[in-house]
Amino acid sequence: MEQFIRQFLLKRLTGEREIRFTKAVPSRETLRAELAKTDAIGVYLHVPFCAQICPYCPYNKEIYQGGLAAAYAGAVRKEMGLYAELLDGKPVSSCYIGGGTPTTMLHSGLPDMIGQLRRVFNLQCDIHMESHPNHLSAANLDAIAAMGVRCLSIGVEALFDRHLETLHRPYTVSNVKEAVGRAVAHGFDCVNVDVMFGLPGQTLEEVGQTAHELVAMGVDQVAAYPIFLFPHTPMGRTEHADNHSIRLSLKRRKMLAIFEEVLYAAGYERSSAWAFTRKGVARYCSVTVPAYIGLGASGGSYLRDLFYLNTFGAAGYVKALEEDRLPVALTLDLSERMQRAGWLYWRIYETRFSRTAYRERFGEDIDRAYGGYLRLLRLMGFLKDDGEKFVLSDSGSFWLHACEDIVSIDYIGKLWGASRRELWPEEVVL
Ligand SMILES: C[S@@+](CC[C@H](N)C(=O)[O-])C[C@H]1O[C@@H](n2cnc3c(N)ncnc32)[C@H](O)[C@@H]1O
Ligand code: SF4
Repeated sequence: MEQFIRQFLLKRLTGEREIRFTKAVPSRETLRAELAKTDAIGVYLHVPFCAQICPYCPYNKEIYQGGLAAAYAGAVRKEMGLYAELLDGKPVSSCYIGGGTPTTMLHSGLPDMIGQLRRVFNLQCDIHMESHPNHLSAANLDAIAAMGVRCLSIGVEALFDRHLETLHRPYTVSNVKEAVGRAVAHGFDCVNVDVMFGLPGQTLEEVGQTAHELVAMGVDQVAAYPIFLFPHTPMGRTEHADNHSIRLSLKRRKMLAIFEEVLYAAGYERSSAWAFTRKGVARYCSVTVPAYIGLGASGGSYLRDLFYLNTFGAAGYVKALEEDRLPVALTLDLSERMQRAGWLYWRIYETRFSRTAYRERFGEDIDRAYGGYLRLLRLMGFLKDDGEKFVLSDSGSFWLHACEDIVSIDYIGKLWGASRRELWPEEVVL
């Protein structure tokens, strides 16, 4: 059934039967021409190191090693230099450092990489960065703020010790509350906390208690994700769960509705499919522009007609840059219909979009391409349309995103799984 829905959505929205990534590396001329098509660009930097590997985690990560991390910092500086030359002073309007765990490199190259980022790019935005609760001592928080990071995200995941144990998280609820308290008191512009729900054996009462405690902790933003089981992770392999069964989806909907109720009452508003931000605070988020370059191992770059992915292994990434090569492993040319579908995907994720934004990007009315779908979604109560802006309702945000996930979780799982198994694959077909 899922396979059928995937094929149907892919064909209807993109006109394609499959998505084929090849090992072609874009030339500098291609990249220069692609970058010239955008007014502003986002920069994503991936730090693939972690102190330990969590059994549910789909991201590209490996155990931290000091020597490799130092070489990695050097390679990232070099990659930044390659792009700086192509960008030629174009404003960078969104900057995100994610992982893995960026704070593993706090004392071994992170300040260096951020320093280079500021030197070579025309940074016109705050830096948003992910961190781990075990790395948030008072001294480390000072070091993070000293690098100019204004928005910090903390992977809290759960506020019950038994769930932390199931997830193999290396701290207790009391440790994590202290760490979040220190970060909140430190005066960042935005402190985001990631939690997961739909955990094995988790009850609705526990979800309610978690939401209330997050409010009491004073965090600026809560990103509450349902736990997804990716087949290439240990938990995905052993749990054999169906990510998208109706029973599971209804349970997730109930749990997310609890977050909505508690967080709205406490003065937060929805800022994306899974995030709630306190009113008046600029939201913490990964990418806010339609085009971005991804630096580091597994960094993905999304330009107008092109998506490409760096190799996943840190050592191979370092070697490629030592040989003055771009570390790109896989490339996908984006047809016009794929670009439109991609645009809509991200706007649904953000839960809002405007007719003007679509017209500016694609030079025609959104109703021409998607009018029938938009009318249907309005009738179902999933979407409000005031003639200019579209805003997803709470249920629309959940169910549309659940539909997107049927495609994206499977594709991300396959693409990332294949990229980990083989660091320089010939091709990957989704
Ligand atoms: C890169 S991690 C956060 C930073 C740091 N590595 C840590 O774990 O504390 C990004 C976030 O993705 C979420 N995440 C990871 N695996 C997930 C999964 N299988 N399903 C849903 N969310 C997941 C978690 O909430 C996690 O905090
Ligand atoms: S969840 Fe965070 S700490 Fe755990 S393996 Fe993934 S990136 Fe690393």
